[in-house]
Amino acid sequence: MDVRNRRKFLMGSVALGAIATLAATAAEATKAAQSSFLYQHEPLPLPFKAGSVKGLSEKLIQSHWENNYIGSVKALNIVRSRLQQALTDANTPAYVYNGLKREQLLRTGSVVLHELYFANLGGDGLADASVRSRIAASFGSFDAWESEFRKIAQGLGGGSGWVMLGYNTQLNVLENYWMADHATGPVGTTPVLVLDMYEHSYQMDYGAAVAKYIDAFFSGIRWETAAQRLALTRQG
Ligand SMILES: [Fe+2]
Repeated sequence: MDVRNRRKFLMGSVALGAIATLAATAAEATKAAQSSFLYQHEPLPLPFKAGSVKGLSEKLIQSHWENNYIGSVKALNIVRSRLQQALTDANTPAYVYNGLKREQLLRTGSVVLHELYFANLGGDGLADASVRSRIAASFGSFDAWESEFRKIAQGLGGGSGWVMLGYNTQLNVLENYWMADHATGPVGTTPVLVLDMYEHSYQMDYGAAVAKYIDAFFSGIRWETAAQRLALTRQG
């Protein structure tokens, strides 16, 4: 082999080696992604007795938890399984795969937000002095915070979405956020208090009278949960 051909041979070997390494890396990445899809979420139990929240009937809470929350957990688990199958199926086009990724995003949001919602419900609605002063420090007063939170909720009445009091760890600010659906949560934010404004949360008890549902939510907030979440964030 002359010098020129030997150089070509060596360069070809290097290229083949690099391709083999890339292929191995891609295979490992695929395997890792598949492994993550093996996770199946177990529904959490309702953290309070259905019917114990004043203003929200047992039937409503039970239906919400069973049909909407557990329904989302089941859907999320199915979507994760389908993703695992689709990842290695060469016949699955990227846009079909991304349709499943969109569902994964929405269902993940629904599961997590419902767990946060039920966990901050079932209390006596009374925020202690430290929580009130922490919120007041960011909003001018506790009442100013509540007024804006209620206004956002009222605006979502008759439709769907969430209201979130959250601490944005990037901006270092405690704010109320409007969310159009399960996937529009503010980035970099630790949830402190979430309110489900999908019609299934109140229609059975109140029809279109959304203000009554908001009143019932406020009188049933478990502030101890919100205080624990707030304690995890930096003092704003
Ligand atoms: Fe819901």
